[in-house]
Amino acid sequence: MTVVLSCVNLKGGVGKTAIAVNFAAYCGENGYKTLLVDLDPQTNATFSCISPEAWSKHRKKHGTVADLFGVRNSESAEGKSTSASDVILRSVFANVDLVPSDLSLFTIDLDIGGRSARETLLKKALKDVMDDYDIIVCDCPPNLTLPTQNALAISTHYVVPVSPDFLSSLGIALLMTRVEKFGDDMEHAIENAGIVLSRVGRPSAFRDQTTADLRKQFAGQMLKAEIKERSVVTESTAKNKSVFQMGDQQAKQEFTAFSKELLKKLGV
Ligand SMILES: Nc1ncnc2c1ncn2[C@@H]1O[C@H](COP(=O)(O)OP(=O)(O)OP(=O)(O)O)[C@@H](O)[C@H]1O
Ligand SMILES: [Mg+2]
Repeated sequence: MTVVLSCVNLKGGVGKTAIAVNFAAYCGENGYKTLLVDLDPQTNATFSCISPEAWSKHRKKHGTVADLFGVRNSESAEGKSTSASDVILRSVFANVDLVPSDLSLFTIDLDIGGRSARETLLKKALKDVMDDYDIIVCDCPPNLTLPTQNALAISTHYVVPVSPDFLSSLGIALLMTRVEKFGDDMEHAIENAGIVLSRVGRPSAFRDQTTADLRKQFAGQMLKAEIKERSVVTESTAKNKSVFQMGDQQAKQEFTAFSKELLKKLGV
């Protein structure tokens, strides 16, 4: 059965995209057929894998996730109806395919807010390709609106990246309650695969206290691995590479340890 992981947090800038992209790259490098689905209108996961020029070309010819939601756009997919296998961009990394995102998702809640089964449009669109993949990784925007709900509706698991600072640590409990409630409403089990400390900066007494508080409050849910703040993460994004294709051994080790721990949690 395909394992589907959503990367979620209500807080922005905590490293959701960096984690989604590099976890997908790790899975691909280790022989798992992987699909990365970018559900964020900011299109950050997409631009971490391909250039804006390549995206623009693909969007015109084959469409984006917006087409899968039926948010038609005159420039997209040459106005034709589009299936998942058209939209998927093959081999952005070894063994990793991509469903690119689209800026038009910014208004998706208005566009499809009145549609029936609006939380399961992605599920319907990906139905025919799901079995082609061992692992699907969904990069979500920093909210729980329709793109995130559609990701959760196909997810077997979710992971919560969090920065060890005061503002980022707020709202985690609310997020987890809401995801649970959504799963309950949809009669669909979504397992919490853990909370991961991300963008961990230089040690300071205050940060150490925040980390200790998080580990205490969410004991049992916090992953052991931590992703440190390293410039290579941003640099790799700009080069459309994963950290595994870069030279920073510490960053590689951290993302490897995290990915291994997460795969165990996913039962892979
Ligand atoms: N471990 C890291 N070390 C250094 N920079 C990082 C790290 N993780 C992410 N970044 C950088 O921090 C910024 C925010 O990270 P990212 O886009 O992954 O966060 P996000 O939670 O997905 O944000 P958003 O909520 O806006 O989607 C980006 O510029 C990214 O390159
Ligand atoms: Mg992001």
